[in-house]
Amino acid sequence: MTAIIPQPNHDRYSRAIAASRRARWNIDADVIRARSFASSEKFLPDALSLAHELTFLGDAERVFLSQVQGRTYANLFGLVERFINAKVLAVAEQYFLGDQTALEALVRFSDEELKHQELFRRVEALAAQVLPEGYSFDIDPNDVARAVLSKSSWSVLALTCLIELFTLVHYKASIEPDAHLSELFKDVFRFHWMEESQHAVLDELEWLAEDARLTAADRDRAVSDLIELVAAVDGILQAQSAADASYFIARAGRPFSTPEQDTIRATFLRAYRHQYILSGVKDTRFVEILRGLISAAQFERIAQALAPLQ
Ligand SMILES: [Fe+2]
Ligand SMILES: [Fe+2]
Repeated sequence: MTAIIPQPNHDRYSRAIAASRRARWNIDADVIRARSFASSEKFLPDALSLAHELTFLGDAERVFLSQVQGRTYANLFGLVERFINAKVLAVAEQYFLGDQTALEALVRFSDEELKHQELFRRVEALAAQVLPEGYSFDIDPNDVARAVLSKSSWSVLALTCLIELFTLVHYKASIEPDAHLSELFKDVFRFHWMEESQHAVLDELEWLAEDARLTAADRDRAVSDLIELVAAVDGILQAQSAADASYFIARAGRPFSTPEQDTIRATFLRAYRHQYILSGVKDTRFVEILRGLISAAQFERIAQALAPLQ
């Protein structure tokens, strides 16, 4: 049997519910508003795509690169939200006959993630209308979710917290300040950010609650699980960055030399690792929570595992 979260967190769950009610939006009425993308529009900012580092590309080629990566950015969020939602529902079970405020906060969280997955499917369909044939993203979200959810709850909540914290950082630090992005693309991630702000708070509460239930040995195994999960994410990034770089090279409209092709492939991988792993593990809040839960030796074990990705 699991314990009910102690009373002090009641206010944090209440505030998350209130913020969720204020933020609540509709895919068509608020986000898409009958708009579509134009083939000339930039999707992902350079700070995330690293397009500016490919100095041999022309302006239109950099826009195309931002579209390829932006399309994958939306698809990858849709992918991870499958396991995030399943984990949130599993965590909510402990409150079915307990703290109804915590339960409502998590049910809203789940409802929002279902809506976000629908939003990202819509973004994929809109991107497909304006981008050339040949793009592929054929990773099954259910297969990924099954693999992730086989790991300890602590490690899945840690990964979820990491993802939801970097979602906030990407929007505030890179997407919002970029004046040259597609308004629709920007709105998708502005509305997403509005609801993700509550999720990051709830992830932290549930991660801490799970941590309190573990023995030292459980926690040490959970740290190993987290390292394995990050390695699995990296496997996905290696495959998708290779697919996206090949698509970009084939569809950019001119030949690239072999060294240029190698640089494009390496830059895609570096950009994806930055987006989905490194910007999260470097996030101040994430590091602060993690350091508060694990020993210096365990922290070092994680740092060692991440070193090859830098
Ligand atoms: Fe989301
Ligand atoms: Fe979320």
